[in-house]
Amino acid sequence: MSDTLSLIRPDDWHVHLRDGAALQSVVPYTARQFARAIAMPNLKPPITTAAQAEAYRARIMAAVPAGVDFTPLMTLYLTDRTTPEDIAAVKAAGVVALKLYPAGATTNSDHGVTDIRKTYATLEAMQKAGLLLLVHGEVTDPEVDVFDREAVFVDRIMRPLRKDFPELKVVFEHITTKEAAQYVTDADRFTGATITPQHLLYNRNAIFMGGLRPHYYCLPVLKREEHRLALIKAATSGSPKFFLGTDSAPHASVMKENSVCGAGCFTALSAMELYAEAFEAAGALDKLEAFASFHGPDFYELPRNTTRVTLQKTEWTLPEAVPFGEAAQLKPLRGGESLHWKMI
Ligand code: DOR
Ligand code: ZN
Repeated sequence: MSDTLSLIRPDDWHVHLRDGAALQSVVPYTARQFARAIAMPNLKPPITTAAQAEAYRARIMAAVPAGVDFTPLMTLYLTDRTTPEDIAAVKAAGVVALKLYPAGATTNSDHGVTDIRKTYATLEAMQKAGLLLLVHGEVTDPEVDVFDREAVFVDRIMRPLRKDFPELKVVFEHITTKEAAQYVTDADRFTGATITPQHLLYNRNAIFMGGLRPHYYCLPVLKREEHRLALIKAATSGSPKFFLGTDSAPHASVMKENSVCGAGCFTALSAMELYAEAFEAAGALDKLEAFASFHGPDFYELPRNTTRVTLQKTEWTLPEAVPFGEAAQLKPLRGGESLHWKMI
């Protein structure tokens, strides 16, 4: 087997770039690995207007290192109050998608949707305008076990939503279960899904290996091995419905190693390396390029990239921590440990 892998430059269809000093710290990592990235809107306060999205785009661009070709793709945070009239301005601003966070489902989701029915007129306008809906697919019902929240979301929310808006393009973000993988596999071409590196590499044992490991905690939380295997099968199937979305979600290490640990794995530093490891372990390195570089732009109806990147099979040690904003440090997933691939 060759020890290098040449790919069309990949894109990240789901990333958290944060804002302010934190943004300055993390944008260079994503811009180094990816040509484009879908920038999540869950800032404090969230990005809810076209003007805010345009201003955020400018702040991201200002953090891209000189000479690096990187384009952020902007999203808006869907709320109960987003109106159908807002949608034209959103489209005109070049925003590509709106993100549905069920209220309270995850980090900075307090402004999220309290009842999907309240957004129906807006979803109708999005369907007409060709804007995508990106979904954090977990119910927030406290009665539902945290490990079941995605599977229950499929039945309670996703199926009715798809029936009511059959031509709205929906991305089921960061899927973590066999139920979600099966749902997307069976769906028509208007439904796609992103898959993170951590959900391809680890099952929930990783969170409890020899003690509680906060850097493996994200939402939706890692699941059982049977679910990881279903995600590997989906990602390596060659199906155009599945594509790369890291969900890289930086939190200062003091916030991760805390009595209340924020959800999120920071993977932007070594995302392609982690995906290559997962695909290699599945004997499917030949499927990595389509997953990372073709299926995403095809689903979003954007051109594929044309330049190339190279991954090399080599052992190297990921830094244990990197600077994050003014005073903080940020610990990448697998920080201080050995990786087997390197983007060069
Ligand atoms: O683990 C997560 N972190 N999941 C999310 O949905 C949000 C993200 C964040 O913003 O930190
Ligand atoms: Zn996310």
